Amino acid sequence: MLAVAVFPAKREVHAIDHPEPAIVSPTQAKMRVLEVGICGTDREIVSFQYGIPPEGFEYLVIGHESLSEVVEVGPQVSKVKLGDLVIMTVRRPCGHASCLACREGRQDYCYTGDYTERGIKQQHGYMTELVVEEERYLSVVPRQLRDVAVLVEPLTIAEKSLEQLSCVQQRLPWGATHRAVVLGAGPVGLLGAMALRIAGFEVFVYSRSHSHSDKNEIVSSIGAQYIAAETNSVDEMAKIAGPIDVVYEAVGASSVAFDVIQHLGPNGVFIFTGVPGRKGPIEVDTDYIMKDVVLNNQVILGSVNAPPHCFASAIRDLGVAMERWPAAVRALITARYPISQALQPLTSDVGGIKNVVTVAP
Ligand SMILES: NC(=O)c1ccc[n+]([C@@H]2O[C@H](COP(=O)([O-])OP(=O)(O)OC[C@H]3O[C@@H](n4cnc5c(N)ncnc54)[C@H](OP(=O)(O)O)[C@@H]3O)[C@@H](O)[C@H]2O)c1
Ligand SMILES: [Zn+2]
Ligand SMILES: [Zn+2]
Repeated sequence: MLAVAVFPAKREVHAIDHPEPAIVSPTQAKMRVLEVGICGTDREIVSFQYGIPPEGFEYLVIGHESLSEVVEVGPQVSKVKLGDLVIMTVRRPCGHASCLACREGRQDYCYTGDYTERGIKQQHGYMTELVVEEERYLSVVPRQLRDVAVLVEPLTIAEKSLEQLSCVQQRLPWGATHRAVVLGAGPVGLLGAMALRIAGFEVFVYSRSHSHSDKNEIVSSIGAQYIAAETNSVDEMAKIAGPIDVVYEAVGASSVAFDVIQHLGPNGVFIFTGVPGRKGPIEVDTDYIMKDVVLNNQVILGSVNAPPHCFASAIRDLGVAMERWPAAVRALITARYPISQALQPLTSDVGGIKNVVTVAP
């Protein structure tokens, strides 16, 4: 069957003929892949900066943001049925008996780093016609979300972040409304802004952008405020946003992030989700930051990957977002490319917010 794969040793990426998978355990299901979203990680993989093939393969089938349809189920599958639309999680546990996180199904907190990830690290991904997976890694999506459900996986980044935030803020009296600044108006930031709005936050999105008016329209239609980095310094942004309770960093630029940390308010939480490319060292006033973190009881946390229950909250929040702001949610998907043209959004700068590869119509 058709798949798109990267050959890291040969520095090649192209369509291949990949063997069709078969159900080999009673708790597995077989899925027909409908769509695969493309993100920065995929673009890094196809430019050979990252991506590790499974053992015994010289290639890795790429793709980790999927939407698919169940076409076959093993005899003990009870959570999904034929015809269900499902999203597959990405990370699989490491094999170490000592890894408490993986042993409890929380490989998103793996201690050893020896986890695998579909489409990224030592497990084939989803940019192919058929996939077999254990049912515990599947989340069912309502049919009415069919046209936007490929956004579930990137939305889980915000869901896990919000879960960590609510754990952390159990440490103090924390009221119902707060001010959040989202850094970066890419798909991670815009989906984060939606999740924060649904969670009741007043939201400001601070970013530079080639497509100001599009982003501005999306942000204002969800009841948030867009602050353009081109015309507002970080200090000016902080004046507009007022005391900041939460920063949701989705910009991947440490220079901006560390400027903004200095404006975090009392008892504030700064959530890092960005993975910066390595650039030169930057100057940061560390005394100021350290003093502020201590005197203001601030927390700085990182968030990566997401467990199945965060996929469930992402599906719920996507449903809420579609009820409240259907046009804004749909506007996050810039373009769809047939799998025969998958290399276009993967290897050239096609712009936009989220580009999607259609595997099956
Ligand atoms: N934690 C996780 O699980 C996870 C998962 C996936 C991705 N990520 C990370 O999340 C981050 C965001 O991902 P994304 O796909 O949304 O990225 P993206 O599409 O690149 O969006 C980032 C946005 O921030 C803007 N920006 C970049 N540098 C800036 C600066 N110095 N000042 C102001 N704005 C700036 C970008 O503008 P330009 O377009 O002009 O650059 C863009 O609008 C990335 O770092 C990615 O690695 C994390
Ligand atoms: Zn992704
Ligand atoms: Zn582990």
